[in-house]
Amino acid sequence: PYIYAITPTYTRPVQKAELIRLSQTFLHVRNFHWIVVEDSDRKTKLVENLLEHSGLEFTHLNVKTPDAWKLAPKDPNWLKPRGVLQRNLGLTWIRENLKKGANKGVLYFADDDNTYDLQIFEEMRGTKKVSVWPVGLVGKLRYESPIVVNGKVTGWHTYWMPERDFALDMAGFAINIELLFDKPLVQFEYEVKRGYQETTLLRGFVTKEELEPLADNCRKVLVWHTRTEKADLRNEEKLKKYGKPPSDLTIEV
Ligand code: UGA
Ligand code: MN
Repeated sequence: PYIYAITPTYTRPVQKAELIRLSQTFLHVRNFHWIVVEDSDRKTKLVENLLEHSGLEFTHLNVKTPDAWKLAPKDPNWLKPRGVLQRNLGLTWIRENLKKGANKGVLYFADDDNTYDLQIFEEMRGTKKVSVWPVGLVGKLRYESPIVVNGKVTGWHTYWMPERDFALDMAGFAINIELLFDKPLVQFEYEVKRGYQETTLLRGFVTKEELEPLADNCRKVLVWHTRTEKADLRNEEKLKKYGKPPSDLTIEV
């Protein structure tokens, strides 16, 4: 089976560094197809060139988040969900360009700022319906994780709303793409309760009893919800202010 990874991404100073780190992890994964969805009206040259030179098999898409759903710079990040339309476009691409039966594969939502151990990809490759595993450094805990008893998921180790049907981060599950064809209408929605994106999607595909715990019965952390510090570029303005040459804008960073 193939692995199809959907990555929403958006323009900001650290974007290239994030995508380079990600792409060079993915180069070590065989039978891998990267679906990169830019949050923008147009595909950018930066992402286009990066993908072209990545050595990866990829699909490059774009769709802009409507202004009403964009976080303002001072908003707390939990206020509005990110990546909704981008992940949905990735789902649509799979449904329209792959065929049930002919294309065997597993779908994973790989945000551009997380850290991935290569082992997680080999673990998820055998997913029959939906597989799950712990995610490190998320939910203000050392890790969040499915609770596994006798090989079955019975609940969730999370501080925050453990009563959710699927109380896990986007990085903590993979889906056999067959389910996408069997349930063609299931996708992410804006109009769901805060923190219920994953639950809303997964409810459309499986029950908790059907989940397949991986990573040594969920005792191994193989993906980390790392978050990159925003780049501080304030000295660019200061250089200008003091009449000194600012950085060359034709140099891509
Ligand atoms: C957490 C979860 O890990 C995400 O999967 C979830 O989408 C997000 O919360 C949420 O609440 O929506 P967090 O680190 O806070 O993640 O979110 P980001 O990493 O900033 O964004 C998730 C993905 O969406 C990233 O790949 C990012 O590049 C992309 N994104 C973010 C956009 O495409 N557009 C934006 O305006 C912001
Ligand atoms: Mn993130």
